[in-house]
Amino acid sequence: METATSTTALVTGASSGIGKAIALRLAADGFKILVHCNKGLERAEAVRQEILAAGGKAEVVQFDVADKEAIEAALNAYFDAHKDEHLDVLINNAGIHSDTLLGVMTDEAFDSVMKTNAYGAFYLMRWTVRRMLRRRRGSIVNMASLAGQTGNPGQFNYAASKAALIAMTKTLAMEIGSRGIRVNAVAPGFIETEMIQTIPGLEEFKKRIPLGRFGTAQEVAGVVSFLCSKDAAYMTGTTLSVNGGLYPA
Ligand SMILES: NC(=O)c1ccc[n+]([C@@H]2O[C@H](COP(=O)([O-])OP(=O)(O)OC[C@H]3O[C@@H](n4cnc5c(N)ncnc54)[C@H](OP(=O)(O)O)[C@@H]3O)[C@@H](O)[C@H]2O)c1
Repeated sequence: METATSTTALVTGASSGIGKAIALRLAADGFKILVHCNKGLERAEAVRQEILAAGGKAEVVQFDVADKEAIEAALNAYFDAHKDEHLDVLINNAGIHSDTLLGVMTDEAFDSVMKTNAYGAFYLMRWTVRRMLRRRRGSIVNMASLAGQTGNPGQFNYAASKAALIAMTKTLAMEIGSRGIRVNAVAPGFIETEMIQTIPGLEEFKKRIPLGRFGTAQEVAGVVSFLCSKDAAYMTGTTLSVNGGLYPA
């Protein structure tokens, strides 16, 4: 029962953009939401208030996803204090980009993107799966990207981190499918959030999109909602593209 009110969904990077839309959508679906943030504590609290105002349930959790000890400390503390709650859904959405061509890319730019996007998801999946295995149920959704499917000039580090997420998704799905836990990914194209505002030549990309527009965070959230629902009970290891037809997968 992945949509029962007794189940909890952790949405990382839920203080803004796509993560916020996912948090609001899964709350409407009946999950109690752990609204995760790092620097955006006030914005995360506003998301929590919005969920409560709509009749849902939510708490805020704060940690840097690149910090393994911080993740374990925060989640152990939360679930030790809420022993009746079970983490049945994990949405690995937190992510950053630091774009430049490979020839001038610093170690720091590569490390920070890999640490946040790939290691962060690794740490969180490992922590979560250990718990889900005990209950033999759960659903994980990783926020990949079109860049991870196709590559993208200027995003060597980001594309590598998102391709890693797709490979992690397939592998973990194979490892734990027999235990009733599903693992899927979503690969958005261009979605109207703060993240894409700094991409050079953005309007040029729009001309190449068959549907003729950028996507919305809510459209990504709808696909995540589906993957966490019973309607997707026979889906695992897949990556669903949400890209307006830019790259038919
Ligand atoms: N927008 C697009 O077109 C697009 C396309 C493909 C994929 N994506 C992916 O979708 C996800 C969300 O993107 P978005 O557009 O919604 O971006 P966004 O508005 O910039 O949100 C990014 C979120 O990630 C969190 N975050 C960043 N670094 C973190 C860290 N070290 N520890 C914990 N949380 C951290 C931020 O939290 P705080 O603000 O609280 O620090 C923020 O909530 C990302 O994984 C991105 O790669 C986006």
